[in-house]
Amino acid sequence: MSRQLHIFPAVEPLSQAAADQFVQIGQTAVAQRQRFLVALSGGGTPKALYNLLATPAYARQLPWAQTFIFWGDERLVPPDDAESSYGMTAQHLLAHVPIPPQNLYRALGEADAPTAVADYQAKLAQMGEPWPQFDLILLGMGHDGHTASLFPGPLPHEAETNSVIAVTANYDGRPAQRITFTPRLINRARHIFFLVTGAAKAPALKAAWHGPTNPEQWPVQRIQPEAGQVSWFVDQAAAAEISEG
Ligand code: 6PG
Repeated sequence: MSRQLHIFPAVEPLSQAAADQFVQIGQTAVAQRQRFLVALSGGGTPKALYNLLATPAYARQLPWAQTFIFWGDERLVPPDDAESSYGMTAQHLLAHVPIPPQNLYRALGEADAPTAVADYQAKLAQMGEPWPQFDLILLGMGHDGHTASLFPGPLPHEAETNSVIAVTANYDGRPAQRITFTPRLINRARHIFFLVTGAAKAPALKAAWHGPTNPEQWPVQRIQPEAGQVSWFVDQAAAAEISEG
């Protein structure tokens, strides 16, 4: 694994840098493998990135017909619910770009957890293998160190054998029932972006970057790709406790 830290004064330049790399990774993936397989994240932080990718300047650079979109986690609410990560992404990005609808692999947020897990594992398998290697997985991080929907505490044993698991977790009043990619699936990715802003996340960012290793307390530490590259796009407030180098 290689990792890079990019620190910005505000979310706008952070999003611009992430958008530039998003485009580059998408173009390279299509040139090399004829497909761009990407997993998006929910939460508030990536909205500015999605807005930017929806602008003509960025949208026209992306190979939408060969782009296949999943979500690294989803809250178990219907797609038109204000808390749906798919819904948020549709509103900020997907409604504005020429992506074929059949290239969108949303989780069945409206289903019960076992159904949603089975459905999403089957959708992953449609990518040619049960554990597809994503070109890019976007992730956020909570102030408690969660990422995707991998929350503090032990990882359920089925995370060893499943690419997707169901979890229940309370965080900032958001929907508690969720499904999420497992670390084993995420860690196969070629590129992972973390988008992190705000002073409240400084301790978790310090733990992610400097340790000590305690993934039950800081689940973000479970993200250690086998061979991929991790790029952190963070603002100065979140990076307050990091020493570079
Ligand atoms: C979600 C996410 C979650 C998110 C973090 C950070 O369901 O919200 O997928 O992992 O990325 O909670 O969220 P913010 O960007 O809103 O701080």
